[in-house]
Amino acid sequence: MKVQKIREKYISYFEGKGHVEIPSSSLVPKNDPTTLFTGSGMQQLMPYLLGEEHKKGVRLVDSQKCFRAEDIDEVGDNRHTTFFEMLGNWSLGDYFKKDQLSWIFDFITKELGIDPSRIYVTVFLGSDQDGIDRDTESVAIWKEIYKKHDIEAKDIEIGSCENGSRFGMKNGRIFYYDASKNWWSRAGAPNNMPAGEPGGPDSEIFYEFTEIKHNKAYGEYCHPNCDCGRFMEIGNSVFMQYLKNEDGTFSDLPNQNVDFGGGLERMAAAVANDPDIFNIDIFRDIIKNIEEITGVNYSGADEKTKKAFRILCDHLRAATFILGDGVKPSNLGQGYVLRRLIRRAIRFSKLSNIFEQGICSKIAESIISDYKEHYQNLGYVRKSIISELDLEEAKFIKTLESGTKEFEKIANKKSNITAGEAFNLFATHGFPLEMTKEMAEERGLNVDEKGFKKEFQKHQKVSRSDVAEKKFKGGLADDKDPKIVQYHTLAHLLLAALREVLGDHVHQKGSNITAERVRFDFSHPEKMTDEEKQKVEAWINEKLSQNLEVFVTETDPKTAKEKGAEGEFSSKYGDKITVYTVGGELGSGQEVSAEICGGPHTKNLSEIKGKFRIKKEESSSAGVRRIKGIIE
Ligand code: SER
Repeated sequence: MKVQKIREKYISYFEGKGHVEIPSSSLVPKNDPTTLFTGSGMQQLMPYLLGEEHKKGVRLVDSQKCFRAEDIDEVGDNRHTTFFEMLGNWSLGDYFKKDQLSWIFDFITKELGIDPSRIYVTVFLGSDQDGIDRDTESVAIWKEIYKKHDIEAKDIEIGSCENGSRFGMKNGRIFYYDASKNWWSRAGAPNNMPAGEPGGPDSEIFYEFTEIKHNKAYGEYCHPNCDCGRFMEIGNSVFMQYLKNEDGTFSDLPNQNVDFGGGLERMAAAVANDPDIFNIDIFRDIIKNIEEITGVNYSGADEKTKKAFRILCDHLRAATFILGDGVKPSNLGQGYVLRRLIRRAIRFSKLSNIFEQGICSKIAESIISDYKEHYQNLGYVRKSIISELDLEEAKFIKTLESGTKEFEKIANKKSNITAGEAFNLFATHGFPLEMTKEMAEERGLNVDEKGFKKEFQKHQKVSRSDVAEKKFKGGLADDKDPKIVQYHTLAHLLLAALREVLGDHVHQKGSNITAERVRFDFSHPEKMTDEEKQKVEAWINEKLSQNLEVFVTETDPKTAKEKGAEGEFSSKYGDKITVYTVGGELGSGQEVSAEICGGPHTKNLSEIKGKFRIKKEESSSAGVRRIKGIIE
């Protein structure tokens, strides 16, 4: 069964149960200052899990693009990927444990046709310290479910992974684990959660590859959370119902919510009963493409070459999607992770002698054509994805040569690599730390990682303040002129309109305002079409005609971001900031624009007399467009 088919089946199964499909949010989270990338489906739903009303209702379903950088070094074996799709279904205070567990079991066994006897589940053991009971309710529900399939389902208390490998499964089917395994929040276990963070116990579903024998290198006995590869987690139902308090205790959220997340690619591997995730159709297509480019056959290749194939598959798929969401390779933040992915893919293909010039963009072409039906934006920004990959590849090849020479010089001293040496390799030769580490490891040398990180942070601070200066030098020419104030408010509307029409990858890159016009720079990879320009104008003119009110809220950056305000959320903001919104107060759901800003602004859009028109749309720099707009 193809990945595309499983995604479709999942969405329509839950639509059949009254759910409304919502689109995947960007890989660059809008409202989550805690991480660089979207790594789970719940991030975009945070306000609603906390009690806000969702306009699409209380039952939602989606397939969310996810990226987890923590797994980058694991990629190369048969089951780890950095990018994956997470199938999600959500109950916002509607159905709870009974429906959730029965429906998801039904979906997996009936719709996907997975043999129920291959399915094992885990539940939360409870925590006295946090005052949270063990989840006997889920156990009772699971027992009922298994009973219908004539499967004996003993519940066994495993507790920790250590216990699991010491005592094994004892013929159980349902297993209690502690909070390190069966509790979900963005921050992990209850004691790691900051005040105000929601979380809850969860119940995970595992598929058993019975053909795989337990490997004792992972412990005496096997159990669902053992890492030997016999069991693979395919889904997780989180019962999101608690909120962490200031004093460390927990209280109930306004609603008992369900947050289910299922790994789409893993489900496909379970359907095929093949533990090698790279054998699923979506990866087979990429592998076929690599075979054509390199002339090397995957199944006949040695382990090292296979590893390079898998790294190319995973990293370039991740890079394609990240580029698709508007990130460019750089030495900072998301751009740095993107650069690392592309460079790591190239490096491994070089190590296995399968590198060909243009390999990255060629692989991306096949990825885009496989995914563009569901993720249409990949088709729209195809050209820029391809050119960014070619550019980054060429840059890296050039620096790789000089960098490798430099590395050899350092490594030949036969002493460990110092922080300064590692940072120089990074800053001057574009070697990510991980690459220096891998090359050093091959020679049995260590790298001063801690020292490197310190150097890196210093460097980050310097470039961040550079960016801040550039970004705010433009701003207002003279804020006492009413015309200027009007154009300033208009600049906010323009950003909101561009994001509405072009997508969430659009962010402000600069502005310059005079009494005659607004000049506005924003991230977008391509020239705007006439139709897009007209849509932006129409959106703004409609808002102007509605005489919407402008509000200002004083808050902190975290809250502002959670409530969807645009702005740069780096440390340069203090604790108190102001957010200007149009059409309603921040967080009211009525606002059509929300931006962190020092003002001043009009009190009402009615002060802006006339119609907005885009006079010019042109390139400003790579990946940045510039609009000059006037009121006439
Ligand atoms: N939030 C949970 C997870 O990421 C379930 O969607 O695993």
